[in-house]
Amino acid sequence: MKKLFNLTIIAVLLLTLIPVAVSAQGPVTCQEEVVVQKDDWLSKYADKYFGNVFAWPAIMALHNQAAQADPAKFPNKIVNADLIEVGWTICIPTAEEADAFLATYDPNKPEMLYAKGAGGQLVVGSWWTAGGEAEGLAGLFRIYNELYPDVEIVNATVAGGAGTNFKAVLATRLLGGDPPDTFQLHAGLEVETYSPEQYLEPVDDIYASEGLEEVFPPDLLSLLKYKDHYWGVPVNIHRSNVLWYNKAVFEANGLTPPTTFEEFQQVAEALQAAGIQPFVMGTKDGWEAAHVFEDVLAGTLGAEAYKGLWTGETSWTDPKVTEALENFKMMLSYANDDHPALTWDGAGEYLIGGKGGMMIMGDWTDGWFTSKGFSGYGWAPPPGTDGIFVALSDSFALPNNAPNRENAINWLKVVGSKEGQEAFNPQKGSICARTDCDPALFNEYLQSAMVDWSQDAIVPSVVHGAAAVESWLTDYKDIITLFVTSGDVAGTQTALQQACVDAGVCQ
Ligand code: GAL
Repeated sequence: MKKLFNLTIIAVLLLTLIPVAVSAQGPVTCQEEVVVQKDDWLSKYADKYFGNVFAWPAIMALHNQAAQADPAKFPNKIVNADLIEVGWTICIPTAEEADAFLATYDPNKPEMLYAKGAGGQLVVGSWWTAGGEAEGLAGLFRIYNELYPDVEIVNATVAGGAGTNFKAVLATRLLGGDPPDTFQLHAGLEVETYSPEQYLEPVDDIYASEGLEEVFPPDLLSLLKYKDHYWGVPVNIHRSNVLWYNKAVFEANGLTPPTTFEEFQQVAEALQAAGIQPFVMGTKDGWEAAHVFEDVLAGTLGAEAYKGLWTGETSWTDPKVTEALENFKMMLSYANDDHPALTWDGAGEYLIGGKGGMMIMGDWTDGWFTSKGFSGYGWAPPPGTDGIFVALSDSFALPNNAPNRENAINWLKVVGSKEGQEAFNPQKGSICARTDCDPALFNEYLQSAMVDWSQDAIVPSVVHGAAAVESWLTDYKDIITLFVTSGDVAGTQTALQQACVDAGVCQ
């Protein structure tokens, strides 16, 4: 009896000496509780305690579990590995725990770095990391969190505009039967890439319960329907064809935005003479030039003929396509040499710094400029596209076997709601997919986009999933990327025609 008593005392003593935090994922032993000092970061701790800078995910994950179990001791969760703040107390796990975690850690599954809330997790996959994009997403998270405070939101973003990198990670996860709970999906033919009948759940029930057919415009609804089902809930409408310009630069040189390709050349010449980079692009991620070219196609062919390119009604051998390539070649001759090193937002810095005159990019640029505190930008339809709205829409989908299905369904309801869309879009630089958002919440550019959306000819963006299947889009992007360096008009036109044949749309 005495022995048992002594053992109990020893056990109690041990328990008070070693801080153990018990969470839903199991107890975490903190070998040390470190208070963050200036210039500390997670990989520095990983090096210090485990002799391995790459062991930082173990600290993030196990600290978050400890914080979930004992919020009084660890009030700060790490939601971004690069952001730990001076004064936070971080739980450093034992080497054994860190090793055990790292043995199963999969960098494609950021949810492993987060704790599980009492209500589980919500793993949201997207490619929104740039300024404006990230703030918009945070707005949606805020609304979700107010409604479901027990759910731990995992921001599973993969950087790379237009989803260049995200889509590859997602494909691996879907194929492996290991999806996030919900993910960003462009409205339109992009859904075909995911073999929806195999990998996704239709979300028709959410449309019915939330009355979504009454609040989205009919054109958008038909873009969203594929094989008689809805596969995503749209959160916005974006415009691909916007020419952004630096207002001060234009005023100083007595210029107005060009409405035709001839005027574009005149304006570009004047900017060049003034020592300003006339036209800026970033082509680092392989889609940006193709994005500009879809707007040049629309501006050269007009709305109907542009649409016909993607349905087979307009031939890619048409002389107007030759003209579009010539127009684009002319524009490229005024572009910055460092475009292959820049992303779309990297290129935008030229405009902010007053070193660049014009840029053609989607209206997420409006959200980005705003997030950078830059208000000296003007906007206009790129040459030839006055009255044409090259449209795309971001939606969220529900994969089969979503690990936290109920949470995902609630997320989709927030995404489709007026409150969710009003929190997201003013920051994102897009307009609501819903027709009942309050225009007063939106800036001047977005209010003008709302007017255009209601009266322009709406045509689908190819680069952002609305007009064509992904395999055709990939060919189209690669061909235009080559064209940027080759400038070979005839060869490019032949290749574009062949891509349409390969897609099964042209003869
Ligand atoms: C588009 C997406 C936008 C924006 C942009 C740049 O494909 O629809 O929401 O994020 O890429 O990343």
